[in-house]
Amino acid sequence: MNPPLSKQAVVAVIGAGAMGAGIAQVTAAAGHTVKLLDTRAQAAEDAVAGIRAQFAKMAAKGKLTAQAAAAAGARLMPVDQLADLADASLVIEAIVENLAAKQKLYGDLEAVVGADCIFGTNTSSISVTAIGAALQHPERLAGLHFFNPAPLMALVEIVSGLATDISVAQTLFATATAWGKTAVHAKSTPGFIVNRVARPYYAEAMRVLNEGGADAATIDACCREAGGFRMGPFELMDMIGHDVNFAVTNSVWRAFYNDQRFLPSLIQQELVDAGFLGKKTGRGFYDYREGAVRPAP
Ligand code: NAI
Repeated sequence: MNPPLSKQAVVAVIGAGAMGAGIAQVTAAAGHTVKLLDTRAQAAEDAVAGIRAQFAKMAAKGKLTAQAAAAAGARLMPVDQLADLADASLVIEAIVENLAAKQKLYGDLEAVVGADCIFGTNTSSISVTAIGAALQHPERLAGLHFFNPAPLMALVEIVSGLATDISVAQTLFATATAWGKTAVHAKSTPGFIVNRVARPYYAEAMRVLNEGGADAATIDACCREAGGFRMGPFELMDMIGHDVNFAVTNSVWRAFYNDQRFLPSLIQQELVDAGFLGKKTGRGFYDYREGAVRPAP
């Protein structure tokens, strides 16, 4: 069993969206210096400000000392170039769910970081084997798949592609465990574990909705209150973001040679086309805008 990364190790997080920000919060709280990079102007700075506010809130509630909150906040550094990540021991990528974009990023990254640097991709569904194919050293890449919201959700899937070095997967497993997460090993099959099993949860709910069987709020309430799920399928998709969730659905469907079991729904396509991406844009299955009458989930 490999030891976890030491607290002195610098962690880089690329992509400062919903997941990248959450992962940066987890890693800074765990004691690492965290460098956060995004191609979108101000995104890394905004994310760092948001995380510092979270730490301050936790201190106000007595979950952290004020000193620990300030120290964790000070370990976060927004940066604006790949070259700034040269001293990272671990790079966690949480950019757009697109194979070409991830391959390009990792190709560029290999020229910047040291030979011992480990890459952890937060992809929800893209083959780790395929992402690794763009690398000179694919053995250093594994999936490090957090769930949304990363600071609250315990599970982390450590996903090995065909070329992943077992000791890289073991180091990530030990590191995620040291961060207080529940790590599991998985192989790079489409959707890994949770996103594979969750596809029918969303798909059948959208079929019921399409057939007029019940509305979204009723289906959500049934799953949540009687079914024991923490969130119903529609509110969960709204939280994940339809751009992300539709990309995952497509990726799993394609990976299984268009198997009808994983067929994406036209509703997802419509929501993405409309820019109704869920909570992050204010509209999805539900309306989150100020003053909107939101059906009780
Ligand atoms: P998001 O859209 O909130 O954030 C993505 C960020 O990456 C954006 O800020 C964007 O500007 C940035 N970005 C895009 N290309 C970049 C590049 N080449 N270099 C640097 N920054 C770049 O997306 P989200 O939801 O945070 O998802 C990110 C990744 O995490 C995706 O692979 C997704 O599948 C995965 N994921 C998402 C979950 C969710 O519930 N939203 C859960 C678990 C994994």
